[in-house]
Amino acid sequence: MGVKLGILGLGIVGTGTVQLLQDITGRHPLLQEIEIYRVGVRSLDKPRTVELSTEVLTTDLEAIVNDPAIDIIVEVMGGLEPARSLILKALSNGKHVVTANKAAIARFGAEIFTTANQAGVYVMLEAAVGGGIPVIQPLKQSLSVNRIHTITGIVNGTTNYILTRMQTEGSNFGDVLADAQRLGYAEADPTADVEGLDAADKIAILASLGFGGRINLQDVYTEGIRQVSKTDIAYAEKLGFVIKLLAIAKRNTPSSPLSVRVHPTFVPQAHPLASINGVYNAILVEGEPIGQVMFFGPGAGAGATASAVTSDILNLVATLKTQRVSTEELHQSKIQNPKSKIASLNPLLACGHQEYCQIAPMAELITRFYARFLTNDQPGVIGKLGTCFGNYGVSLESIVQTGFQGELAEIVVVTHDVPEGNFRQALAEIRNLSAIESIPSLLRVL
Ligand code: HSE
Repeated sequence: MGVKLGILGLGIVGTGTVQLLQDITGRHPLLQEIEIYRVGVRSLDKPRTVELSTEVLTTDLEAIVNDPAIDIIVEVMGGLEPARSLILKALSNGKHVVTANKAAIARFGAEIFTTANQAGVYVMLEAAVGGGIPVIQPLKQSLSVNRIHTITGIVNGTTNYILTRMQTEGSNFGDVLADAQRLGYAEADPTADVEGLDAADKIAILASLGFGGRINLQDVYTEGIRQVSKTDIAYAEKLGFVIKLLAIAKRNTPSSPLSVRVHPTFVPQAHPLASINGVYNAILVEGEPIGQVMFFGPGAGAGATASAVTSDILNLVATLKTQRVSTEELHQSKIQNPKSKIASLNPLLACGHQEYCQIAPMAELITRFYARFLTNDQPGVIGKLGTCFGNYGVSLESIVQTGFQGELAEIVVVTHDVPEGNFRQALAEIRNLSAIESIPSLLRVL
């Protein structure tokens, strides 16, 4: 009894998945039960690194999601449309879906999961966050008895690669980005990565699983890494930090609103995420009673992502096998299944959230800040800065003036924990001080 797959897309992830499925010796025996039945591609003429018969390859993706013989659709084409419509059609046709598409899930998760639950089928998305790192199933299953209070991730390999090189080489963002593009570590259009949008999609998905509610992507505060300068990276190092693009979801108490955000962050050098370098990803989950648990590994790449996609396929194959046995048993005992398919969904595999999580405004975020000021070098400037911060209850952890940029003095401040709203009010007052020339950098500190 084989399980038939319809794979949509034969790019890097699709090709890696086909390669894995065609080379199963030494892997889980259930893989033998999988048949690559159809693979949908844009062009039949393109040279491929995998061998697939002409009956398997097709350009008719609609026909794949409508084919009654197919049990599982594997959506690895990416992009919003037609991926969204094909996923919805497949689900309505009663097919389970495996997807690596974080952008579609983060934007259309509500309609995708509602459709899946109504049809009594699963949407599996291990590959959508962290590439090959198992983090979706652990959040759904192994960690689900915990009260999660924080998920902190380095979930974008491109930006981690750029920041790591800026740090080790003392280079500027623009130069490293151009080189990363030349080497294939950054895309020709790097917007989704460097502006933090890809990380926002991913933390929205992780937050939804960790905190048990839907997340409106527009509520995720998102700041990219374009404004991170080599000067700030050098200051970070002097002060005992590294700069990382962090995706954070945090809830202080089970009844308080969530904070969900992506921004470059000063991370203490001793923090477990500080040593995650290059294209690697890591996700630190903190909860009660588990404490801290960190997932680390390759966040992208053909083989790694194929590992995640195929683990989802295998999970569904196992589920289909047991469902088919129970359907046969029901038939033999002449009992009609009186329940809808929804009742038979495994709640540890499905996503049944209906409510949206309440997201706290950034002004209420309690965090430390790093700020760099360029000022006229005259008596009393540091005193005035301290007074303005004090006026809004912002306590300073350190204030240093070590350098000059031309004629201007460079003053660097690190605050204690403070409501972001207070910090912003103090800054507004500081901007009006005649001695302040500019505030080139503001970064949150973990
Ligand atoms: N563009 C992503 C990254 C990889 O740079 O991490 C796919 O999620």
